[in-house]
Amino acid sequence: MCGIVGYIGHQNACEVVLKGLERLEYRGYDSAGIALLGKDGFRTVKTVGKVADLKNKIGDSGLVGGLGIGHTRWATHGGVTDANAHPHSDEHNRLVLVHNGIIENYLELKEDLLAAGVHFQSQTDTEVAAQLLARLYNGNPLQALCELFRRCRGAFAFVILFNDRPNELYCVRKGAPLVVALGENEAFCASDVPAIVEHADRVVFLDEGEICRLDASGASFWDLNGCAHDHPTTSVDVDPTMIDKAGYTHFMLKEINEQGSVLRRAMSGRITEDTIDLSGEWGISAAQAKAFRRLDLVACGTSFYAATVAQRVLENYLSIDIRVDIASEYRYRPLKADADTLALFVSQSGETLDTLEALRHVKEKGAYTVAATNAPNSSIAREVNDVLRLNAGIEIGVAATKTFTAQLMALILAGLYLAKLRGELDEKDEKRLVSAMKELPYKVEETLTLEAELKALASKFSKARDFLFLGRGISFPVALEGALKLKEISYIHAEAYAAGEMKHGPIALLDEELPVVVVAPEDYLLEKTLSNVQETRARKAPVIFLTTEGVTAPADIAGLIRVPRTEPELSAFLTVIPLQIFAYEAALLRGCNIDQPRNLAKSVTVE
Ligand code: AGP
Repeated sequence: MCGIVGYIGHQNACEVVLKGLERLEYRGYDSAGIALLGKDGFRTVKTVGKVADLKNKIGDSGLVGGLGIGHTRWATHGGVTDANAHPHSDEHNRLVLVHNGIIENYLELKEDLLAAGVHFQSQTDTEVAAQLLARLYNGNPLQALCELFRRCRGAFAFVILFNDRPNELYCVRKGAPLVVALGENEAFCASDVPAIVEHADRVVFLDEGEICRLDASGASFWDLNGCAHDHPTTSVDVDPTMIDKAGYTHFMLKEINEQGSVLRRAMSGRITEDTIDLSGEWGISAAQAKAFRRLDLVACGTSFYAATVAQRVLENYLSIDIRVDIASEYRYRPLKADADTLALFVSQSGETLDTLEALRHVKEKGAYTVAATNAPNSSIAREVNDVLRLNAGIEIGVAATKTFTAQLMALILAGLYLAKLRGELDEKDEKRLVSAMKELPYKVEETLTLEAELKALASKFSKARDFLFLGRGISFPVALEGALKLKEISYIHAEAYAAGEMKHGPIALLDEELPVVVVAPEDYLLEKTLSNVQETRARKAPVIFLTTEGVTAPADIAGLIRVPRTEPELSAFLTVIPLQIFAYEAALLRGCNIDQPRNLAKSVTVE
C-alpha cells in the first residue's frame, strides 16, 4: 500500500525523506509528496506520478530543513490527482500528515465536519483525519491523537507534524506497519525497513495501537489510552546491496536469477546429510505434532499458489486433513478450527492485512499458528507462535518470484518435518527427497539458461489478447501462478484451469487466437494432460508445452520448453521458472513497467 517516511535531525530532511520514499516506491506509485516544517511554517510539495516526478517538481526550490514527512501513494479513496496526493493539512494549517491504510468510517466523520463548516481540498479519507485532528488539538498532541483513534475505524499508520511543535514529530500505528529508527541526534520512521536501513540498525517496530513521538534525542511511546511505556529497540540485518539491481535491467529479472542461491539458503540449517531437521527453528514436540488433527494453509496471491503446491505435495506424507484457503475468504468463514488445528500463514511481506486478519480470526479459536515469511519482524511474524523464515532477501519487484520458490521449500520442508515428528515420513522417501532437493539449485540455474528460447516464444505470442494456462495436480497451482505473473506485469488477460476441468466450459474459448500454456512435467498425470493437449489442438489453439527432459512432446505444438528432471513432487521448483521468464519477456516487449506494474503494490495493507 502507501509508503510513508518521517525524519527529524541534523541532515536535510528533504533528501532523507526523498531517498526513503524511493526505497518504498514498491508500495505504491500513483503520486508522491513531501512537507517540511521550518521557521516560516509548512512547505508542502506534491504531485501525481513517481518520486522522480516529485524531485523534478521540487527542483532547486531550496526545500531545506531538519524536520519533514513524505508519502508515496497507492490510491484507495479519491482519484489519482494532485489534490488527493499526500501530505494533507487542515484548513488552518495547524498540522500536516501522511497516511497509509484506510479509515473505514471516513464518510460519517466527514459529514460531521462539513456540518461544522469545514472546507475540504480533496476526496481522501486522509484529509478527514487531518481536519478532525486539528479540531481535537488544543496544544496536547497525545490527547488529540488518542481521541482521533477512538473515533476512526480501520487500519492505518500516520506520521504527523504540528505547526507549533517544530522539534518533534508523531507517528501512530493501528493495523498498518510502521518502524522507527534512532541515530546520533536524529530519528527516522517509515512503513518498512528499506527506507531507513542505511541510517541506523537500531529500530523499533511499532506495536498495534502505539503512539510514538520522535525528537532529535530519541523516541517516547504511549498506548492509545495515553499511558507511557518503554519499547526496546531491535537490530535489523538488512543487506543494503539487496536493494540494488546488481546490473540487471529490472529487480524482477535479478530476483528470478537469484533463485538458485535462494534455494540454498532456504535449505541451509534445515537439511543435514540426508535428513530433514527443523528443530533449530520450529520448537514443536513430537507430541504436539501428533496432536494436530488438521493443517490450514492460508495466504493471498502468489503465496496462496505456493501454499496450494505444498498442499498437493504434503498430502502424500501427512495423514491429517490439509486445507488451503484464500485469506480474505478464510477470514469470514465459520471455521471449525480449534487447539488441534495447525494454521500456517504464508506471506512474503508479513504485512498483508487479509492474511493478518485471517490469523487473528483463527487464533481466537485456539489454533497453533505459524508464519512462513520473508519479514521476521513483520506484523504477522509478531502475532504467530512460530516463524519459518524464507531468507530470500528483500524482494523489490512487485511481482513475487524468488519468494514463491523460497515459500515452496520452507512449506514442503516444514510439512515433511511435521510428518517425521508424527512418525509418518518413511526414511526412504526422506532420503530420496533430500537428495533431489540438494540438486535443485543447480537445476534451477540450468533452467534459467532457457531465457533465449522464452524470449523467442514471447515475441511470438506477446501480442495475444488472452492466454489459458493448464495443469493437473501440483502443476495446476503452477499454472495459476504462471497466469498471475503474465497478468500482473504484461496486463494480458490470462486464466488458469485444472486441465481436466477445461472440457467443462473453458474449451468454448479455444481458437487460433488463444495460446494455451500446458504445464506437464513427467508424473503420474502426464498421460491425462496429453489428452487435454489433443482436445486443445483439435480446436486449433496454439499450445506451448512445458515439460521435463526426456518426455516425448505431442506433435504439432507451437512451443516446447523442457526443464531438467527431478522427483515428481518437486517439479514446481523448475516448471515455475520458465513461466516467470516468459511473463517478464512478454511484458518487456509490451513496454510495461515491470518492477512497478500499474494498480499494484508489493504489500497490501488494506482489506
Ligand atoms: C504476487 O506477485 C503479488 N505481488 C501478490 O499476489 C502477492 O503474492 C500477494 O499480495 C501476497 O503478498 P504476501 O506474500 O506479501 O502476503
